[in-house]
Amino acid sequence: MGLTDSGKNNSAEEHARRVRDMFARISRRYDLLNHLLSVNIDKRWRRRVVEKLEPLVSHESRILDVACGTGDLSIALFENIGARVTGVDFCRPMLERAARKQMGIAFVEGDALQLPFDNEIFDAVTIAFGLRNLSSVEQGLGALRRVLKANGRAAILEFSRPVVPGFRLLAAAYCTRVLPRIGGMISGSRSAYEYLPDSVSRFPDQEKLSAMMSEAGFADISFENLTGGIAALHTGRRSGTDFSL
Ligand SMILES: C[S@@+](CC[C@H](N)C(=O)[O-])C[C@H]1O[C@@H](n2cnc3c(N)ncnc32)[C@H](O)[C@@H]1O
Repeated sequence: MGLTDSGKNNSAEEHARRVRDMFARISRRYDLLNHLLSVNIDKRWRRRVVEKLEPLVSHESRILDVACGTGDLSIALFENIGARVTGVDFCRPMLERAARKQMGIAFVEGDALQLPFDNEIFDAVTIAFGLRNLSSVEQGLGALRRVLKANGRAAILEFSRPVVPGFRLLAAAYCTRVLPRIGGMISGSRSAYEYLPDSVSRFPDQEKLSAMMSEAGFADISFENLTGGIAALHTGRRSGTDFSL
C-alpha cells in the first residue's frame, strides 16, 4: 500500500527531525570521532573534493557546501581555492561549531531539500556525507541542481560500496561491530553510530548514484573510488537551463 501525499510529507518530516536531533546530540564529539574512526582518512577524502574542483572554479566562484555540518569541507574549499563559500545545514549545533572555526564563510541554517537560495546562483555545489541522510536522494539531487548555474559543477562525497569483496566484508564488520561501540562510548549516542552503517547499506552504490545524477539533470558524470570504494566522489555538470514560460 502506498503512502498518501500527507503521509509521505509526515514521514519525511519525521525523518528530518530524527536526523537533526541525532546530529545535535553528537555535534560536540563529531569532529573527534570522524578523525578517530577513519584514522584521519576523512581529511584526505575532503581534500580530494578540493583537488577535483580546483581546476574548474576560480577565487571569484560561489560555492555552496550543502549539509556542511561542522564545516570541514567548506573550510578546505575556502582556504585552498579562495572562493566565496557558503555552508548550509539544518542542525544549529553543528553550524555553530563550523562558524567558530572560520569567520570568512557564510554559514546558513537551512534544509538541503528546500535550499534557501535563488535558482542558478552557484558555480559549484558540494555535499559530503550529507546526501545519504536526506529523506529523498532524488529530491536532494534536484535541489543541488536548482541552485547551480548552467554548467555549474556538483561534487558528491559519500560512503559507497567497497570494490574488493574481502575488503567489503572487513569494512562491513568494522562498521557494524567496532564503530557503534567506540562511537557510542565517546559521543554518548550508540544509536547514531548504528544508524551510520544502516544508512550506508541503504544508499545507492557508485553506478546507481551516477544513474540518479543523470536522471536529475547532470551531465559529464564520473566517479572515483576512495580507499577501495569505502567512499566515492561523484562529479557532474548541470546540463542546460530550465525555461519556464
Ligand atoms: C555526516 S554529517 C556531514 C557533515 C560535513 N559535510 C562533513 O563532511 O563532515 C551530515 C550533516 O548533514 C546534515 N543534514 C542532514 N539532513 C539535512 C537536511 N535535510 N538539510 C540540511 N542538512 C542536513 C546534518 O545536520 C549533518 O550536519
